[in-house]
Parts: sequence; structure tokens; C-alpha cells
Amino acid sequence: MPPRYHPPVLDEWLHYGLRLFHLIAGIMWIGTSFYFVWLDFSFEPLPPERAKESPSVDGETYMVHGGFFYRVEKQKPTKLPPNLHWFKYEALLTYVSGFLLLLLVYWTGGGMALMGPTRIPLTHPHVAYTVSLGSLVAAWFLYDTLWRLIGKSQPTLALVVSVLGLVGAIYGYCSVFPGRAAFIHTGAMIGTIMICNVWVRILPAQRRMIAKRLAGEEPDWAEGAAAKQRSLHNSYVTIPVLFTMISNHFSFAFDHPLNWAILCGLAVIGASVRHLMITIERQQTAWWAFAPATAAFAMVVFVTWPAPRPEVSGPPVAFAEANDILARRCRQCHSATPTDDVFHSAPNGVMFDSPASIVAYAPRIRLRACEARTMPLANKTEMTDEERETLQRWIDQGAHTN
Ligand code: HEC
Repeated sequence: MPPRYHPPVLDEWLHYGLRLFHLIAGIMWIGTSFYFVWLDFSFEPLPPERAKESPSVDGETYMVHGGFFYRVEKQKPTKLPPNLHWFKYEALLTYVSGFLLLLLVYWTGGGMALMGPTRIPLTHPHVAYTVSLGSLVAAWFLYDTLWRLIGKSQPTLALVVSVLGLVGAIYGYCSVFPGRAAFIHTGAMIGTIMICNVWVRILPAQRRMIAKRLAGEEPDWAEGAAAKQRSLHNSYVTIPVLFTMISNHFSFAFDHPLNWAILCGLAVIGASVRHLMITIERQQTAWWAFAPATAAFAMVVFVTWPAPRPEVSGPPVAFAEANDILARRCRQCHSATPTDDVFHSAPNGVMFDSPASIVAYAPRIRLRACEARTMPLANKTEMTDEERETLQRWIDQGAHTN
């Protein structure tokens, strides 16, 4: 008996709910982590008379938020109160929900979203799942081993190797996975390193330091420094991860033949912006960070700029002809009443039902269907090159509706 078809309504709600959960947990994680980086730079020394009274205080800061005033003291950990608040579940919940999302979006449906016509296409779902999961695990072990072995003695070398490793991983993902999966796996890989930094390195180091202090011994401050290093790494990759998280809305980037270079450029922009934020908070603004950010932005714009198509010239195209093409190739999705099996409402609200809306969208139609040729989606409606040229001619001739 064939399996009974059931509409995947519950899957859709699960997906919606997980995304919301992931979003909220991620906002909390990033919020607290950015906040503590800011806090670290915002302490002022106590006035001399108070400093004498409270030798364990390293500095203090005053804040106002929501109508109340707050004073925070930075403590040398000489004694610890019974109630110490940790900020660790935001990270864990972000990761767990993100991982479940990865499984839901990319592993269900026979791994179809992981397989496509790439440089090194994966032909079997189990190979795709293995690459998906294996790469996340491998990335953590490679990164962690690198920083444990040479991170302390040669941090610059470790940094160079890490950056090259990231570029290699991005290129690798973009070679085996379709663009959308490649981008999110890059985010998942960095996310895996971030969560392991927190739970495998930073938190245990803090616990050991606290235990030593409680036992009346001097904590191993080198452990604190190593934990800080990992925490700083996490800080710099936050914005690049956010780029990958929202990338699935931007097929012109992830579906581009040079998608790996685009993602590398976005990572440079993200890390530079984070560096700017941090140095502004330290009141030592690193203006130079605008240079790599601007260069990377110029690079991604240049790469995604559509190649000029040879001039299409020919007899005038009547609106009726252009409209026919849109009806045949686009309105299956882009209509108030779509007939597509997947899209039951017009994608992005873009509809080509009336002459006025077609004219209004003409520049975008030209970009997506005639130049970049990323529409129709996966050329599902089998638009021909000839039709693309006719459509472009109609637009270039002024997109008239008579
Ligand atoms: C199978 C469904 C499908 C077909 C057929 C299709 N599109 Fe799309 N279109 C989408 C989806 C999904 C999106 C949103 C994702 C994206 O932008 O890639 C989209 C987005 C767009 C956008 C971008 C809207 C924005 O917000 O900028 C344009 C323009 C567009 N399509 C034009 C066309 C044209 C022109 C055709 C026909 C030649 C076409 N599409 C055919 C599914 C389709």
C-alpha cells in the first residue's frame, strides 16, 4: 500500500516555532555577549578613598536603563557569593534549536536540499548527511587542537591557519552543497566552534578557577587568558554567522557561481564591523577597519554585478508578447492566484497580474530573468533564452503597455 499522504501542516508549524525559538535564543546570546564585551571596557577606577576600603574592586560603572540606575563593580575574584549568575543557556539553546532546524530543513525530504549540480555533487543522501555532520565535528577538533597546541605560543600563526581553514571550509562547502545549504553549513560550523568554545573550554576553565579560589589556592590565570581568547574569537565571528543565518533570502548571493568568494567577503565585512564596534567601545576607534570592510563590499558588489549582455536589438516587442511570456513562465508563482505546487501565495508578494505592476517591476524582472537569470526559480517553468531576450527587448524599448 502506498504511504498515505498527509499535508505537512504540523511540520510547518514546528519549523515556524523552531525558527522563532532560535531567533529569540540567538538574540539573547548575542545581546549578553556584546553587552559583556562593552561592560569590560566601561569600568572606571574607584576614587582613592573607596579603593582603600574595597581592595577587591577593580573598577565600577553606572548605567541607566528603563528608568532605573545600576552600579556594577568589576571584582577580583577573592571571594565568591553563593549566588553567582552564569550566562550559558542562551548559547546552548541557540545551538540546540539551530541544530534541530538544520535537521528539519536539510535532512528531511531525503536530503534533497543537500544535493545538487555542484562542482563535486553528492549523489547519495547518506554521503550528504555524513558530510553535513562530519564537517561540523571535524571543524571543532581541528580548530581546538590548533589553538591548544600553538594558540598560546604562536597566536598569529594560529590565527592565519584558522582564517585559511575558514576560507577552505567555505570553498569546500560551496563545492559539495547547493549554495543555500553551503551558506548555512558555514554558519553551523562556526556556531559549533562557538558553542564548544563556551561549553568545552570557557565554562570548565571558569569552574576550575572558582574551585581553586574556594579551596584557598591561587587560580591558574593562564586558564583565564586562554578562555578570554576563545571568547574573543566568538565575538569576531558573530556577525559573519548572522550573515549566513539570513542568507537564504538572497539567492543572488548563495546561488552565484562565485558564492564562496561572496561569503568570504561577507565574513571580512562582519569581522571588520565587529572590530570597529569593539574599538569604538574601547574609545580607540580603529578607523582602518573601514578599509577591509569597504574593499570586501566593493568585491561582493563587483562579483554579483551582472555581466553586460550583448545588446539585444530587433523589431519592437508588443506588450501582449511580453505579457504572454510572463503568463507562461512567471505567473504560475507570481500571481494573486498561483497555480504552482509549492508556492500558494506570490513569492515576496511580487505579482505580475496587471500591466501597471508589470511595468513597476520591469527593472527587477530584467535583473532576475534577463541578466542574472535566477528567475524563474530553478527555471522550473523552462523559460527559453529567446524568451529572456524578447522580454529584455520589451523592457529596453521602454516597457510600454500599448
Ligand atoms: C516556481 C516559482 C517561481 C517562478 C515560476 C518564478 N519565480 Fe520569481 N520568485 C520566486 C521566489 C520563491 C522568489 C523569492 C526568492 C528569491 O528572490 O529568489 C522570487 C522572487 C522574484 C523576484 C524578486 C522579488 C524581490 O523582492 O526583489 C523577481 C523580480 C522575480 N521573482 C521575477 C520572476 C520572473 C520575471 C519570473 C518569470 C520569468 C519568475 N520570477 C518566475 C519563485 C518563482
